[in-house]
Amino acid sequence: MKISIGCDHIVTDEKNNLVAYLEGKGHEVIDNGTYDKERTHYPIYGKKTAEKVTSGEADLGIVVCGTGVGISVSSNKVNGIRSALVGDVETARYAKEVLNANVIGMGGRIVGEGLRENIIDVFLESEYQQSEENDKMIERIDALVANEEAKNDDHYFDEFLEKWDNGGYPDK
Ligand code: RB5
Repeated sequence: MKISIGCDHIVTDEKNNLVAYLEGKGHEVIDNGTYDKERTHYPIYGKKTAEKVTSGEADLGIVVCGTGVGISVSSNKVNGIRSALVGDVETARYAKEVLNANVIGMGGRIVGEGLRENIIDVFLESEYQQSEENDKMIERIDALVANEEAKNDDHYFDEFLEKWDNGGYPDK
């Protein structure tokens, strides 16, 4: 698999360890930096990492900063990205299976090395559970970024609310 990865200066060592881990498992890694400990800003690397995914250069992305929050939020602003900040394997599985997340974010100061590796394993190995419901929901969520109509429509998700009553979604 081709993996795009990025971090800020707070977690350069942790990111380098993840690059080595992924390469050790046979993945091709695009390392978008940062590459040292000089102070920088996480959105630069969230954006770069995400854009490699939307361009098709990478299959999936991994973003890491101190808490994981800043870089995950930044990566989510790239049109076509569904980035999930996670701190456990179950959430990583859900993100991929239900929302077809294409970027996973972690806090390098929050999540320990072993758990980070487990999260990545599960994220890469889990498969999107394709269904009409999941496809539609994802399409609607993706459209929020660029679709002006969606931004002004208070009833944008009404169709999905109705589906709760018909047992359309599993509560997880
Ligand atoms: C440093 O900029 C720190 O705020 C960052 O790594 C991260 O924790 C933000 O979410």
